[in-house]
Amino acid sequence: MQEKLAEIRKNAKEKIGSVIDLQGLNELKVKFLGKKGELTEILRSMGTISAEERPKFGSLVNEVRNEIEEAIKTAEENLKEKELEQKLEKEKIDITLPSTKIKRGSKHPLNRVIEEIEDLFVSMGYDVVAGPELETDEFCFERLNLPYGHPARDMQDSFYITDTLLLRTQTSAVQARVMLANEEKTPIRMICTGKTYRREDDATHSHQFNQVEGLVIDKKEKNVSLADLKGTLEVLVKKLLGENLQLRFRPSYFPFTEPSYEVDVTCFKCGGKGCPLCKKTGWIEVLGAGIVHPNVLKLNGYDPEKYSGFAFGTGLDRLAMFKYAIPDMRLLYTNDIRFLSQFDRKDEA
Ligand code: PHE
Repeated sequence: MQEKLAEIRKNAKEKIGSVIDLQGLNELKVKFLGKKGELTEILRSMGTISAEERPKFGSLVNEVRNEIEEAIKTAEENLKEKELEQKLEKEKIDITLPSTKIKRGSKHPLNRVIEEIEDLFVSMGYDVVAGPELETDEFCFERLNLPYGHPARDMQDSFYITDTLLLRTQTSAVQARVMLANEEKTPIRMICTGKTYRREDDATHSHQFNQVEGLVIDKKEKNVSLADLKGTLEVLVKKLLGENLQLRFRPSYFPFTEPSYEVDVTCFKCGGKGCPLCKKTGWIEVLGAGIVHPNVLKLNGYDPEKYSGFAFGTGLDRLAMFKYAIPDMRLLYTNDIRFLSQFDRKDEA
């Protein structure tokens, strides 16, 4: 009996030691430890040995069982590890293969221009403010020295919603809002970018477009002058459109500034020689500007004897068209991916 047990032990250890997969190991488990296994068989035949010998033999059988179980456990762990290694080896990912490309969007040219202008003016100490697109007649016109029936209202074909509410035709409305809100009369240095609306629609005009407005107001003794306005606009134009450009101030008329100017820059297409784009003048109009009209100061809570300042406004769409040589303004609004994807992130660090 004892010999038989020793043989089982030897046999089991050998077999378990040389098994090559989990399935084989399972078969051995059944063969040695299962209900009909060799050890169970031996236990069954315990009846044939004497009562004194039985406990000793019983514990010997248990010892062997434990040893075999232990061996099976170790083998099982080893085999599982091996199988995992093989699996990993087989499924190795080739990290040198090119990945599937994720299409990245690109910033809209208008937003690029808006961000660039905002950054520039913030660097000069300006605040960036916003105003409503649905505006009252009062802020869009009256407070800007354009009373009801004023002929200059005809310069801006508008969309009225009610008798007194309209889609703002100019961001100049924000000038009045900022002045009126500034009860302490602290110095104002603000720019405002945003959507504006007029009844126009052709290659260089759209019923909805974007403007940037600037306003600087300070005590009279600070002497905010035309020279400051010129210097500021020169920075804006040169930084945004090109250092080589020249600026030209042409006398003009706006109801809210006096004197008023229209600001032209050298035609970027012909460099000033004259071409169809600049109608052979060598200049392209880009901005409206001037010294804030005393009436506008008065209408918005400022004493024109004590305060003065300058204001300017320009169409962002036109600036974007110049900057990126876009031939038709409507391209900015048609969401054509072929157009938009030309403005990728190359120029962003
Ligand atoms: N609001 C004017 C326009 O839309 C531009 C402008 C702004 C002119 C500020 C002078 C001062 O045409």
